[in-house]
Amino acid sequence: MSRMRCLTAIAVAALLVTGCSGEMSTLDPAGEAAETLRNLSWGVYGAFLAVAAAVFGLILWPVVRRRRGSFDEHAPVGIGGGEPWILVGGFAVPFVVLAGVFVAGLQTMSAYPLQNGAIPAPEIVVTGNQWWWRVNYVAGPPAMQFETANEIHIPVDTLVDIEVRSADVIHSFWVPRLHGKVDLIPGMPNRIRLHAERAGVYRGQCAEFCGAQHAHMSFLVIAQPMDEYAAWLDHQRRPARIPESEEARHGLGVFNASACSMCHTIRGTGARGRIGPDLTHLASRRTLAANTLVNNRANLMAWVTHAQSLKPEVEMPNITQMTGEELRVLATFLEELE
Ligand code: CUA
Repeated sequence: MSRMRCLTAIAVAALLVTGCSGEMSTLDPAGEAAETLRNLSWGVYGAFLAVAAAVFGLILWPVVRRRRGSFDEHAPVGIGGGEPWILVGGFAVPFVVLAGVFVAGLQTMSAYPLQNGAIPAPEIVVTGNQWWWRVNYVAGPPAMQFETANEIHIPVDTLVDIEVRSADVIHSFWVPRLHGKVDLIPGMPNRIRLHAERAGVYRGQCAEFCGAQHAHMSFLVIAQPMDEYAAWLDHQRRPARIPESEEARHGLGVFNASACSMCHTIRGTGARGRIGPDLTHLASRRTLAANTLVNNRANLMAWVTHAQSLKPEVEMPNITQMTGEELRVLATFLEELE
């Protein structure tokens, strides 16, 4: 094999392999619903490949046949007599292929309850906002309920019912490795049932264009063994921990005195804003700004002062009136919200 051909083969193989795995691949399922969708996808790809092979075969056929001899090169071109080709290739074959795909699609869809009646009482409510995800755990009495954002923890190998809502425009909840998409429609709650067969972190993404930062409206589904999940629930139900260091206490003061507390809630403090994400356990989350930035001190400070540069048009304003010292103690306080 020549070097060029070898490189091409490697490139094609790499494309094929990387196309089948990765955190946003529907071909790398980690749950039963996603497996069914993967099987449907392969079925459809197979059908399309067969059709494409037949069509290209038919295109190449006269070319190959003609090479055999050039005697009839100047013979008149025969026209007419192609009606059966049109009937079979233009109608019968597409009808069979498309009807097959349609029926297989309907079967796949009907196997998963998305209708409101099919899932009685979801324990998690996810609300799409421009451009982040409010996550409410609503099981049990009010004292057991809590709110978080952009990270949905679920127990592994358990059916988890989620209600999805929208606070503004239409969004779409999509975790490719766990399930298909479900729309978040204002005024019309929908439901989806997730099932992760293996513990892990599954990336989700808004799959309906919803404005300037649609691409930065991402989230994580974190599937944990039951005991870890129970410990997480227990921790999240608690109010924020009281700042220990002098610096963090000063930071809480800065938080309450600035615009922060108008939009954010920190349970256990006076901050009860409802516009932005609940920050009670902010430091326990992996990311900031709906899975846009890694949750670390540098990004926290950058987000506070330059949200509009990092995620233009987001509701979070640039907070520019703080001194360097105030920003530093604020970051220390936020970092302690485990
Ligand atoms: Cu929300 Cu796109």
